Amino acid sequence: MDEVAQILAADVLDEADQAVETTLRPRSLGEYVGQPEVKTNLGVLLAAANQRGEAADHVLLYGPPGLGKTTLATIIARELDANIRYTSGPAVERAGDLAAILTSLDERDVLFIDEIHRLNHAVEEILYPAMEDFALDVMIGKGPSARSLRLTLTPFTIVGATTRAGRLSGPLRDRFGATYRLDFYAEEELAEIVRRSAGILEIPIGPEAAREIARRGRGTPRIVNRLLKRVRDHAQVHGNGAVDLAAVHEAMRALDVDEEGLDSSDRRVLVAILTKFGGGPVGVNAVAAVLAEEVETIEDVIEPFLLRLGFLDRTPQGRIVTDAGRDHLRRQGIDVPPAGSRRGIADVVPLWDDGDGAGDGGLADEPITTG
Ligand SMILES: Nc1ncnc2c1ncn2[C@@H]1O[C@H](COP(=O)(O)OP(=O)(O)O)[C@@H](O)[C@H]1O
Ligand SMILES: [Mg+2]
Repeated sequence: MDEVAQILAADVLDEADQAVETTLRPRSLGEYVGQPEVKTNLGVLLAAANQRGEAADHVLLYGPPGLGKTTLATIIARELDANIRYTSGPAVERAGDLAAILTSLDERDVLFIDEIHRLNHAVEEILYPAMEDFALDVMIGKGPSARSLRLTLTPFTIVGATTRAGRLSGPLRDRFGATYRLDFYAEEELAEIVRRSAGILEIPIGPEAAREIARRGRGTPRIVNRLLKRVRDHAQVHGNGAVDLAAVHEAMRALDVDEEGLDSSDRRVLVAILTKFGGGPVGVNAVAAVLAEEVETIEDVIEPFLLRLGFLDRTPQGRIVTDAGRDHLRRQGIDVPPAGSRRGIADVVPLWDDGDGAGDGGLADEPITTG
């Protein structure tokens, strides 16, 4: 791979990003900013398991990307003074793969399964007895002489992560002793995360600049950390290196991140619903098709924060851009059609037209005869 290709390759960039993410990860519940309810409840669960010297209950974490699920999983293992193994739903292809991982765990180890809603059915079936009874059912032999053998596993803890708990099958969800929902972070919490990360990365930053990055961080720690690094680059290249308010504003302009933290892909979704679907209601599949985006990306990555801001509404009929959403786009200088300007089929073809082009208001061509 030549140098330019290497710079442009997404996985290479990901690795660099991942390395920084790892250094910024809080290592204990005490260092973990925000999510007070989760921290309290999880703290009790872990302390109890430690006191009994047992494996902790299986834990399911759900919430939008970048809110700290993987981080919490590593903290859980650390607080249990246990090892952690990482895998993910799509990575475990066959039941045997999972069996191999499970039999390799030591007592009280943590197995983190990211995107657990994407486990295939055969693998999930292995997980049920494993989670419930620490048992592994294996088939010996083939055909009429085949029999099932039950192996005992040492007690362990599964930490599952998913962007949406509703995607999990009922039986799998039931096997978690505790389920915690991570919510978007408050501005104050994000500012604290920015200051913490700036300290670790040795970036001098004032409280105002930290606050401004927090304000534009879509309630998401991963995003504020990324913004912080981009602002630092900007201050270094275009300014005097100082990460101040002016540097933040300039970087945000360059990144096309607006004052609510929306980037161009967020605004694209709102604009598409307004211009192609008269503001909605419209199904997510149609929006995805128009934008050539994955449905899952729209539902799990883009929509949650638009819903949170109240720029988008989810109704049984589909997605609707709210007045607040329209106002926000107008403030960004985007031309927004007024509400109620929907031009549907009904405006073009009169509903009563029978399609014969006679303009007879739908009267049948053949007179109806009675008798
Ligand atoms: N509560 C938190 N306090 C401080 N930093 C956090 C917190 N949650 C997440 N982060 C930071 O955000 C980044 C993304 O978190 P991660 O756990 O990978 O999110 P998820 O797994 O939910 O997508 C991490 O590198 C970590 O530095
Ligand atoms: Mg993660």
